[in-house]
Amino acid sequence: MFNLNPEKIRSDFPIFDRKINGKEIIYFDNAATTQKPKQVLESIMDFYKQHNANIHRGVHRLSREASDLYEQAHRTIGKFINAKQKEIIFTRNTTESLNLIYYSLSKNLKKGDEIITTLMEHHSNIVPLLELQKLNGIKVKFIDVNEDGTLDLNQYKKEITKRTKIITVAHSSNVLGTINPVEKIEKLAHENNSLFIVDAAQSAPHIRINFRKLNADFIAFSAHKMLGPTGIGALAGKKDLLEKMPAFLLGGDMIQEVHKNSWKPNKLPWKFEAGTPNIAGGVGFAEAVKYLEKIGIEKLRKHEKELAEYALARMKAVNNIEIYGPMNVEERTGIISFNMKNVSAHELAGVLDSMNNIMLRSGMLCAQPLVEGLDKKGVARISFYIYNTEEEIDIFISSLNKITC
Ligand code: ALA
Repeated sequence: MFNLNPEKIRSDFPIFDRKINGKEIIYFDNAATTQKPKQVLESIMDFYKQHNANIHRGVHRLSREASDLYEQAHRTIGKFINAKQKEIIFTRNTTESLNLIYYSLSKNLKKGDEIITTLMEHHSNIVPLLELQKLNGIKVKFIDVNEDGTLDLNQYKKEITKRTKIITVAHSSNVLGTINPVEKIEKLAHENNSLFIVDAAQSAPHIRINFRKLNADFIAFSAHKMLGPTGIGALAGKKDLLEKMPAFLLGGDMIQEVHKNSWKPNKLPWKFEAGTPNIAGGVGFAEAVKYLEKIGIEKLRKHEKELAEYALARMKAVNNIEIYGPMNVEERTGIISFNMKNVSAHELAGVLDSMNNIMLRSGMLCAQPLVEGLDKKGVARISFYIYNTEEEIDIFISSLNKITC
């Protein structure tokens, strides 16, 4: 198998033609959002230039073309994760996907029922649960994170009870990069007849996901973290469950019939896609997935592991640095959070930007319960993707060394 060629890949990304102060951009903020290749940008432009019309609302040619493209996009995303078209609902992003599931499932939850999440979650897999706790009396339990950045799996046995209706976990942490053992947690959940929900926002772009094999009841992910546009994401759910669940948003396109006193929901997946959707976004999402498939997810993962291994080895040698998360690259993605003594994470991000156009994220990373436990003031985070190189890591390391000396 040939290695991935980041230099060639970069030529597909117009943003990397941009120079700031005469220097190239070093984009290490891929966990927040990735850059977009020209193939994705052109597919969106082509949709608006050649096919623009509303979907499922007209018999005219343009509406049929737009509907076909949008439906095909669902099939492409479904094929990417081995799910059926009916099981793919387009949402705005992972946050909306998770809100949709929890809102809809909450109609069948009772006071005292329990949901188990983890301390490693993004706010979008905590805040909707805390709201259910406040409004519906649902008990939310948290699995702790060990010193090495892995989940305390032994705690599940203590926390799971007959009232545990849902077990949810991030497949991969947006702070620590930890890849969680979702296969083990799936077994624990289903042995207890609990639903199993996976936040795949930080894994779907980096690791091959097989929805059928994973046997999760629902998984959520976003296009913009995998070369696609912002404002579009996916929720994959098992068909029999989605069929039984009440709709989330109500109105146009999500209905089959409406009368003065009644209405009937549309078939899947449209029952969960109310109103005019982000049609061009769906087209761009599908193009992003095609681009990733052409590269190969396995090759992409190998490249990210190599970058993470290289970066971790070089970062460990920097003075006054603290690195968080598992040190074994088999157990993590290309996300590395860290802190420097005597320089706050925000200061560091600002200095690296002005020194060498190094773009990284700093602060609470939308995961305050976890990050506060690492450092009350937040952390700095670098995160890699297909276009990053070891040379960029070298510039990053020499910039860190200049800051610490
Ligand atoms: N959730 C994204 C991040 O971790 C925005 O940066």
